[in-house]
Amino acid sequence: MCGLPLIMDPNIIAGPSVERAEDAGVYKLSDELALVQSVDFFTPIVDDPFVFGQIAAANALSDLYAMGARPLSALNIMAFPVAKMDISVFRAVVLGGLDKIHEAGAVLLGGHSIDDPEMKYGLAVTGLAHPEKIVFNSSAQIGDKIVLTKPIGTGIVSTAVKRGAASEAQAKTVAETMATLNKSAAEAMLKVGASACTDVTGFGLVGHLCEMMSDERFGIRLEFGSIPFFEGALEFVKAKIAPGGLFRNRKFYSERLLVQGEFSKDDLKLLFDPQTSGGLLIAVSGPRCESLLAELEAANVGTFAVIGEVIAEPVSKVVLA
Ligand code: CO
Repeated sequence: MCGLPLIMDPNIIAGPSVERAEDAGVYKLSDELALVQSVDFFTPIVDDPFVFGQIAAANALSDLYAMGARPLSALNIMAFPVAKMDISVFRAVVLGGLDKIHEAGAVLLGGHSIDDPEMKYGLAVTGLAHPEKIVFNSSAQIGDKIVLTKPIGTGIVSTAVKRGAASEAQAKTVAETMATLNKSAAEAMLKVGASACTDVTGFGLVGHLCEMMSDERFGIRLEFGSIPFFEGALEFVKAKIAPGGLFRNRKFYSERLLVQGEFSKDDLKLLFDPQTSGGLLIAVSGPRCESLLAELEAANVGTFAVIGEVIAEPVSKVVLA
């Protein structure tokens, strides 16, 4: 956020005055305690208002999990067309959000609503962490394995659902996955100890891998065959079903992707698909990787896979093999 007249404060561990783009802001309260804060909200991406509330809340809370923080409290952010929408719809959205806030072990402290022609919902979230145990997104080490904890393709499959091209089962799977908290995955990560973490959201898999490389110290080798994708995602892309954000991400990040091997244009599109409430991307040392996979398994994290590794060169590139 260059150009902002920001106050420098030594207690700011992550924020716009610190030279790193993190998932959440971090403010040190004491040597043992840091405040971790984030906010996100958006327009409905599924028809069911309760499920939309669940997804929006899981998505907002995800940035706390990516930093290794424990969610403490949340505030509702609500925009609602008062004149033309039934208040029960909005109540269902808020109940969906509350369901996930409680599942996270956090509490709702309040919120604010405005009249708006287009419904929007999300949360401002606050979590706690030990200042020395914050998991940053760019602190991976060469040789680390990269583990992903949800399948890729929510943008593509959600677009297919909107166009009536997806089956009921596909629609259900993608909605349930987006509504799943990254809580268990984050707990497994904290148990084992990770070198870096972020969550996959709007910039897609490649975009968020690039975020992990923002210190320009290493590259990441990505194993296409190991990446979990939603069933149907590739078929939808082949049928020209894709969200606009995918092409924006491709335009922005494609020069960072070095393709070594035979991949079709459609294969590559999957890597730029913007995710809503995506999984965690965890960088973990080789020796700790097995323990992490065992912890993810024990915690019933549905889908997870080692999708790549941190390499010395080429720096700041995703090498696709
Ligand atoms: Co994030």
